[in-house]
Formats: sequence, structure tokens, C-alpha cells
Amino acid sequence: MRHRDLCPKVPEGETRIIHPVTDEDYVFPAALLACGELVAFPTETVYGLGADATNEAAVAKIFAAKGRPGDNPLIVHVARKSDIPPLVTHITPLAQCLMDAFMPGPVTLVMPKSRLIPDLVSAGLPTVGIRMPAHPVALNLIRHAGVPVAAPSANMSGSPSPTRAEHVEKDLSGRIPCIVDGGPCDVGIESTVIDVTDSWPVILRPGAITMSMLEDACAKAGILPHGQPDSPAFDAENQGVPKAPGMKYRHYAPKAEMRIVMPESGDRKTQYLEAVLSFLADRGDGKLGVFCGNSEHEFLEMELTPEQHQQIIFYVFGGDTDIDAAARGLFDGIRSLDSAGVGRILAAGFVGAGLEHAYMNRLEKAAGAKRELEPLEADRDSPCRSVLFVCTGNTCRSPMAEAIFNKMAAEKGPFSEMGQPRSEVCLSASSAGIYAVNGSPAEAGAVEAAKNLFAADLSGHASRKTTDEMISENDMIFTVTREHAVILRRFFPELAWKIESFSEYMSRKSIILRADDGTVRKADLPDPFGQHRIVYEKTAMSLHAIIEAMWPAILDDLGIVAAD
Ligand code: TXA
Ligand code: MG
Repeated sequence: MRHRDLCPKVPEGETRIIHPVTDEDYVFPAALLACGELVAFPTETVYGLGADATNEAAVAKIFAAKGRPGDNPLIVHVARKSDIPPLVTHITPLAQCLMDAFMPGPVTLVMPKSRLIPDLVSAGLPTVGIRMPAHPVALNLIRHAGVPVAAPSANMSGSPSPTRAEHVEKDLSGRIPCIVDGGPCDVGIESTVIDVTDSWPVILRPGAITMSMLEDACAKAGILPHGQPDSPAFDAENQGVPKAPGMKYRHYAPKAEMRIVMPESGDRKTQYLEAVLSFLADRGDGKLGVFCGNSEHEFLEMELTPEQHQQIIFYVFGGDTDIDAAARGLFDGIRSLDSAGVGRILAAGFVGAGLEHAYMNRLEKAAGAKRELEPLEADRDSPCRSVLFVCTGNTCRSPMAEAIFNKMAAEKGPFSEMGQPRSEVCLSASSAGIYAVNGSPAEAGAVEAAKNLFAADLSGHASRKTTDEMISENDMIFTVTREHAVILRRFFPELAWKIESFSEYMSRKSIILRADDGTVRKADLPDPFGQHRIVYEKTAMSLHAIIEAMWPAILDDLGIVAAD
């Protein structure tokens, strides 16, 4: 931190707005940053609220200004790739490849953090998200400040990310000393967040850089293992996961109810007209917001009467099929229609695997936020306790875990509430898959192994896709690998605290599993799909050993004991 005499002062409650033109204009905001103060600045994605990432007291001000919960980690922004190595313990070949291909740009790479990064930045995680933005104002500011800059989006917690300096002003004016105005953001949707701590990339948040772009960039270099059968990253992109029902994120909640208008036979016009007429029929005198393209706007103007037209506030983003323009205008559109007091917003939906994917992810979050009810807390008074096992397709590892757990519960029960020996509590497990298709049978190898080793019958198993209800209603959720836990926590951020992999749970509880030769056994179980029967049997044996080792800790966490 600088000597205090060199630190600029901004009176409490005042917010200076800077429009930088020359290098000189960066001196003041950069000095604020270097002195441990907050500065909001533009990036090509959205505006960020920055603080010196190496100064814990400065970072704490971010959480206070935004009203952000401290368990959500911050992204650290740098101006040069050469500033990255000191912030991380090592750079894997995958990370290097993505740095070469996509930085500067709308991407954040999650890597193991070095000691320079305070725990407050990473929310206690051993990793840190690193981003080199492509906006010249951001790069100049960070370079002038001479420190890495921790910055979440510069909105109040609960409102959409800001894509214009005026949005930041609306949310944070009087709460931060300075906003650097660089005009509207070009991309309009936050960066793609990619976990690169292992040899496969896991997309934690979709953005303008898509999985197929990652693959293209790194497959040629031989960096990405092609077609890894169990890489959730590959599945996530191929199966368009965030569009799947039941995997809603909760984030900002517009005051208006949001409806997504999807194109049908290549066009959204008639869907808009029907949605407008149905709103006007039920709501009588309320206002309706319409986020649409140029020719959709013209079509509605022609079809509606002047009285009907008076009830509508339009936000026209550009050409009907221009996804770049729609993404750029999305948050501004939601903010401006919401502040105009509309009761419902009809927003253009897009189909496609590029930016459309990230756009739909944000739109569905905004629409879902209004629809969803608070998640049900597991009912502690209920006389049953339940555990959910999760893998990829729910046809092998998780059904075997379910069968093994239920068999153990039958053998080791009955159970009672801790300290209440006369109460009886039932205990059971079920299973689901992150990318499961509902209703598939268990794999033959799994059915066979369960039958031979544990006399368990998996022949009637029907796979299920993981849903909010399952995550809310089960007391404990275990995934078969760490990658599954990472993905599942992203899908259900509100309930992330409930979700752990076997390996994470065991390391938290200091449970060590040893093989016969005394070596420590890995608790992350690879998918035996399509392999020899012996591999299925080994997987089943490992699951048995893991569940048995975790058993006492699980009963303890569930607050139950075996009744004697
Ligand atoms: O485009 C962007 O990424 C913008 C601009 C300002 O750079 N920033 C942004 O920050 O969107 P924020 O804090 O609103 O969102 C960062 C996301 C969060 O969802 C957070 O959970 C995730 O990145 N994230 C950050 N560090 C992480 C880590 N170590 N592990 C997993 N997720 C992480
Ligand atoms: Mg944010």
C-alpha cells in the first residue's frame, strides 16, 4: 500500500465519475486502488468493482459495498499475462493453452492460488479465478495501479450485472469513491469461468467463450484429452445443460415476472403477439415490457391498436436474430424495463450453442428467480433421513452406491435419534445423475456386480436426472468424483453447502482409506462404462469400502445412532 500522504481523498458518501481520455486520467483512480479503496471500472463483459486483491481490508470493502455474501469467491484481474504466475502455485499445460488462446478476453481460469491471494478473495477455496480483460480502460487502470485487482460485477447483490456506468451509479453511488466510465460494455454477459485445476476443463459458468472454442484451441496442441467419456465439461456443452429443466440457477430477481419467447419455425413474431394479447386480456391495465428485435417491434406496432400499444414499453436490442446485440442489451433491457414498473417482461429466446448458450443461461436465471419458491430445508423433525448419491448418467456408480448403502442400513439398523433411544428413524439412500436421461436401466455390468457381490437387485432401476427437489429434500448429497461435485454445486448454488464428493467429505472428516498394501486409496471413482466385468466389480468393492469408511461420520451428521 502507498504512503498515506500520497493517497487521494474522496469525502465519505461522494462518488467521483471519471471519463478517461489520456494516461493522466488514470492517476487518480489507480492511486485509490493502490491505497486500498474501491473503484468501479468497465471490462468488455460487465463493469467490475475493484480492490487491491492482495489487501484483505480493501477486499472486505467490496463485500460491504455490494451486500455480497462472503462465501462467493472473487475474480482477480491482471493487466499482463506475466502477472499471473505469482498469483497461482502452478500453471498446467491446459491453463497455459487457454491463456495463450483467450487472454485478454472474456474468460476466467480457476487455478490453485498462491499465498499472495487472501482467503477472503477465494472465499476460503484453495483456488482463485484469474482474468485478463480485453477492455483498454480496464487494462490501463490495472497497469497504473500496479496491483492485481479483485473484482466482482459492480452491482448490488440481487440486481443484474451492470453493463453501463449509469447502472453502477444507480446501485453504488455514495457507497464507493470512484466510477471509471468507459461507455457500454461490448459483450454484456459475464466471462466464461473455467476450472483448469485438472487435465480437463470444467465450465463453471457459460460465457462468450464456449466449450467448442476451448476444444478447438487446445485439441490440436494435444492438450485436451479428446472424448473423455466421463468429463462433465464435455457433457455440459454437448447436452446444453443449463437449458435443462430442474437445473436453474438463482441469482438476481427482476421485480417483473419474466417470460421467454422462443422462436418457432425460425420466427418469434406470432409468439410475441399471442403473449402480448394474453397479458392484456388477463391484466387489464398493467404495463408489459417487451425485449425484442427490430422487425418484431415493427410487427407488433402494426398488429396492435393504439390503446393496446400504450400498455407496452419496448426495449429493441437490434436485429431479431442478432445474438451479440441481444446479449449486449440484456441486462440494460431488464434494468430499464424493471425500473419502468412493468408487471411482466417478454424477452427474446435464442437457440444455438455459441453465445446463445450463455445468454439463455442468464435469461433463464432471471426468469427462474421469480418463479422459484425458497428451497425447502430438510425437515429435521421428519422420522426419516435420506442420502442421495450422484454420478453422471445414474446407470452405474450411483445406483450401486444406493444399493450398497441401503443394504448396510438394513444390516446396521434400526436407528434412533441421538439421545432419544426410543424414537425410531428410518434411513435410506437414492441416486440420480447430473446428465441422466430419465428411465434408463442400470448397466449390465453394474447389475451383475451388485448381484454377485452384495446380493442386491438393480434390475428394476430407472435412472433419474438430478432436480432441485432432490437436492432440497435429501439430508446429504454425495457425488462419486470431485468434478461431479464442482458441477452440481454450480447448478444448485443455494444448496451448494449440502453437496460434497466422497473425496471431499473424507478429507474434511480426516477419513483415510487404505488399500490392502497400506497405500492410500483414491475416493474418486472413474466411470467403468463399457469395461470388463472385473472393472465393475472393482468399482463396486471400492464403493463398499468408501461407504463403510464414511458410515460413522454420516450417522453422526444425520444425528442418528444405531438402536441397540
Ligand atoms: O466477466 C466477469 O467475469 C466479471 C468482470 C467484472 O470481470 N466479473 C464477474 O464477477 O462476473 P462475479 O463475482 O460477479 O462472478 C464471478 C463468478 C462467481 O460466480 C464465482 O462463484 C466464480 O466466478 N468464481 C470465482 N472464483 C472462483 C473459484 N476459485 N472457484 C470457483 N468459482 C469461482
Ligand atoms: Mg456477479
